[in-house]
Amino acid sequence: MKIKNLKIDHVGTPLGFLIEDGFSVSYQVINAKGKKEISCSIQVSENIGFENPIYDSGILTEILPVYPVNMSLKPRTRYYVKVTSVSDAEEICQETTWFETGKMKEPWIAKWIGMRDKRIKVPVIHRRIRLDKEFISARAYVGCAGVYVFSINGKKVGDEYLTPYCNDYTSWMQVITHDITKHLQKGENELNFMLSDGWYKGSFTYERVENIYGKELSIIAEIHVKYEDGSEEVLKTDVDWEVNDSVYETAGIYDGVHLNYKKHCPTSSPVTLIDMETLKLKDRLSLPVKAMEVRGVESVFVTPKGEHCIDLGQNITGWLRIDTSQFADKDFKIQYFEVLTPDGNVYTENLRTAKAEFIYETDGNARVVEPEFTFYGFRYAKIVGLDEIPPKAFVGIVVYSQMEQTGNIMTSNALVNRLFQNALWGHKDNFLDVPTDCPQRDERLGWTGDAQIFSGTAYYNMESAAFFRKYLYDMRKEQEKMNGGVPVVVPCFSTGHPSTAMLKSCVAGWGDAAVVIPWNSYLHTGDKRMLKEQYPGMKGWVEYIRKRDDGSHLWNSDFQLGDWLALDNPNHDVPFGMTPTTLVASAYYLYSTLLTAKAARTLGYEKDGAMYDALAVEICAAIRREFLTPSGRVASDTQTADVLALKMEFAKDTSYTIQSLSKKILTAYGGYLSTGFLGTAYLCSVLSENNKNDIAYKLLLNKNYPGWLYEVEKGATTVWERWNSIHQDGSLGAADMNSFNHYAYGAVMEWMYQYPAGLKPIAEAAGFQKIHYAPKPDPQLQWLEASYDSISGKYVSYWEIREEGLFFRLKVPFNAKALLFLPDVPEIIKMNNETIVYSEGMEVAAGEYEIEYVPIKQYYIVYSWKSDAKLILENAKLAAVLTEKIPAVQAIPEIMLHMFQGSIEGLLLEIGIVPDAAIRSEIETGWKTVRSWG
Ligand code: BGC
Repeated sequence: MKIKNLKIDHVGTPLGFLIEDGFSVSYQVINAKGKKEISCSIQVSENIGFENPIYDSGILTEILPVYPVNMSLKPRTRYYVKVTSVSDAEEICQETTWFETGKMKEPWIAKWIGMRDKRIKVPVIHRRIRLDKEFISARAYVGCAGVYVFSINGKKVGDEYLTPYCNDYTSWMQVITHDITKHLQKGENELNFMLSDGWYKGSFTYERVENIYGKELSIIAEIHVKYEDGSEEVLKTDVDWEVNDSVYETAGIYDGVHLNYKKHCPTSSPVTLIDMETLKLKDRLSLPVKAMEVRGVESVFVTPKGEHCIDLGQNITGWLRIDTSQFADKDFKIQYFEVLTPDGNVYTENLRTAKAEFIYETDGNARVVEPEFTFYGFRYAKIVGLDEIPPKAFVGIVVYSQMEQTGNIMTSNALVNRLFQNALWGHKDNFLDVPTDCPQRDERLGWTGDAQIFSGTAYYNMESAAFFRKYLYDMRKEQEKMNGGVPVVVPCFSTGHPSTAMLKSCVAGWGDAAVVIPWNSYLHTGDKRMLKEQYPGMKGWVEYIRKRDDGSHLWNSDFQLGDWLALDNPNHDVPFGMTPTTLVASAYYLYSTLLTAKAARTLGYEKDGAMYDALAVEICAAIRREFLTPSGRVASDTQTADVLALKMEFAKDTSYTIQSLSKKILTAYGGYLSTGFLGTAYLCSVLSENNKNDIAYKLLLNKNYPGWLYEVEKGATTVWERWNSIHQDGSLGAADMNSFNHYAYGAVMEWMYQYPAGLKPIAEAAGFQKIHYAPKPDPQLQWLEASYDSISGKYVSYWEIREEGLFFRLKVPFNAKALLFLPDVPEIIKMNNETIVYSEGMEVAAGEYEIEYVPIKQYYIVYSWKSDAKLILENAKLAAVLTEKIPAVQAIPEIMLHMFQGSIEGLLLEIGIVPDAAIRSEIETGWKTVRSWG
């Protein structure tokens, strides 16, 4: 038995993270013989030997996924945390970790410093310090209006990029704590802070506004040194520091960097004090942004226009690290981009105004270079200035917030597997401190709608609690300024400049991020302390809408984005779908009210719970009055309207509504989706939830436009912004809004984890202490395996459709449980080779279970002349068997196939083909060898 993933506030060994009143402790137990934990205890101490611990939980027998620890803490102090866990098999294990507080509320003695010379774009603020005695530890606490790279004696401190990150600087400024003990030496030390505009004052947002949060680049730092003799010294930024130019000519998030090693950097000049308060400085919440992966070059090639390019084979966020030793005397320029034009040339139009460049001017010395202060969203890079591109000189650096992958999905279908990878890549590429819409064009903003839709998937894919905690902290800061309203972009980047006013709008589906993300966070972590912290944001948003509600209990005013980018609008140039925006807004009003009521009850706020439940009843009745016909039909023709009615619980008659949705998909849209951001998020889940699992699978597996695999077939390595980012004829969508790396539609993975794989959380046992294991196989896939390393441990779900029946393998982690809801199950099943009586909802404890049975419904399709015509003709193998014997089938007009409903036999009859008995039987024999998932 062993403790793994021991975390403090969902971070491993947090150094200088924001802790306001206590913290949380979570861990997993692995390799146990027992099934569950019977007790645990937590101790906190200032020394690793745990003499005189300052906190002792005592023996805890109420086992939780996350334990709150309420205690007061001192600034700049390392605390050790020890967890002891005891299993029901009398095993005991222990693990220790640490966290260290930052400056907390301690006043600053350092001063903000900057420079007079405004011609310097990327200054280096520096000073020499002397340490005359032996020291045992040193920390630097750094805040910056801009972004900085800290180096000591010529070596970069730490491995983070873009510190102190992106947040709403008008509300708070993050302080980064660096452990610099190993960087300093006794005697002389040179400290350098290289600064760049970053998000604070660089040209940002699609309106390219400058100085959004301030006009002066500046830095503040305190260096606390502890000497061996017990004394301490604080070195600080003040007027004694100096400023120099750097080798950077320019650096910006969108445009990239220009490095000039030929440049003669003039001698130093004194810094100036910057008049800025220190009260906004707070310890960090941002996870470190690091080089998380490296990728070699897949190929180098020359385009038809003669441009030399590199292909990484994967759309990533980050940059190329370049070893210039083979071309040390050459200046060169790199243009980063995502896709090639249909004729194979460089395509940069969709980057809009973002230059996405790396310009390098050499002094003749060889070095390994990479940019600081920027990032690029790219698969390809055009290199200008080199006659030849040695592929080994370039390596792709993948940069995102430090998060471990927790989920995985594999199936019998290679295209679906690629889709999963694409969604995961879209996730990594867009989780760079802020959940951005896209990483490449002049946008890269924390659009709340995109994040809301994707948050469920995010939690399965990667450990997301700390990442979202920071985003939601920023969100609440914005809400405090907007009466609970949530801007469409967080941090908002709209500080009064008229051109960015849109970013401040409060819109349904987007603002609901303040409710949906905390709820998803709770479902996945079971962390009530975090839910409590986030509850004011949830309540704030519902109350904001309530103020917009004119008494009708609908949200029928204000600018709305509706079902963004849906395909049901006949005018394809318009990004708004046809689902009435008042319906969308009121549906989300209902949804957020329901979730806030649940959160209130979870936290024991019974009064709020009752109030929001009552409000939800009113909203539901109002939506029904306004948007449902007397017979219960949702009076809007879109797929999304039905999806919302089912998901957000205002459908009067669910079976009628699901029939309507199925009809719209199968008949009106020929078996395809037409939904945008909001409808797509829940499309497959409402189908699977309401007995239309086969249609959900069909939508997933459609290879033609529009659908997820259409993108895969077109070579996508991430998820596109639009269903038609590349048209069927290969031409590229309109450049003004066409990202090839938008994660929103990747939200279908939440459905895959929860429905096909069956790993569904239970709110009453949040944090995956117990799940609903309700896998939903479908004959369109032969097998599927999914795993989720949840906060409570790792679940694995595997199923396979075998000739003999259905086979499942489920792994439930230590201390967890699963309630079984097996599909089409007979009374008797085989579990771990024993015959048992199955009962719906039966509970299984930690362990591994192999389950087999012959389902009461046919899962193994045997095709015949009675099979559905479309099923036969849309399956390449089945169609080939048919056309080989009856070539005339190929001439059936597309429109007829589209319209026809019935068996293949009926279709042939309709066009006058009646094959003789011998041919019929030969064809049927051929069909029998074909598998439905083929
Ligand atoms: C962004 C989206 C966003 C949308 C809403 C776009 O420019 O890229 O993902 O949600 O605007 O207006």
